[in-house]
Amino acid sequence: MNIVLIGFRGTGKTAAGRLVAQELGWEFIDADDYLEKKIGKNIKDIFKEGGEGRFRDLEEEVIAELSLMENKIIAAGGGAVLREENVKNMKKNAVVILLEADADTIYQRLHSDPKSKTQRPRLTPMDDYNEILHLLEYRRPYYEKASDHRIETAKLSPKEVAQEILSLFREITQGGV
Ligand code: S3P
Repeated sequence: MNIVLIGFRGTGKTAAGRLVAQELGWEFIDADDYLEKKIGKNIKDIFKEGGEGRFRDLEEEVIAELSLMENKIIAAGGGAVLREENVKNMKKNAVVILLEADADTIYQRLHSDPKSKTQRPRLTPMDDYNEILHLLEYRRPYYEKASDHRIETAKLSPKEVAQEILSLFREITQGGV
């Protein structure tokens, strides 16, 4: 069994995921970091050379690989839910938890996260804020369909998000939810 965290860029998957992993004594894997190591290129360069389609194909391979592992906390990239194959693979042996936040919070978090420089190429011709608004709306049904549980993170610290994930996970594994 794994825990997969899904949600838009900047919803805190990595920060909370690391804390949950520490608490459970499991390994934390960020799917984007894993992909970059596997290919030997950063995500911005993969987009530049092969476009978003090439990145999504690689992401699909990575999600399939990670789904075969056990006792991992996996942070999936924000767009991983767009492919049905990924959602099918995630759901095979994981509790899938959606982290949510409003556009303003996401905008601020992305601007202060150094990861944005190499791992977050622009996804539309829009400006940053409008891209977030547009994609949040477009992806909402994908996130909802893929998730078993949801956590609103805007007013929570990474530690509080991690605690919510842990209590959800414990309820599930003890048969409560
Ligand atoms: C993407 C989100 C990124 C990364 C890539 C595409 C997206 O992951 O996979 O830049 O389409 O939302 P994070 O959600 O970890 O930032």
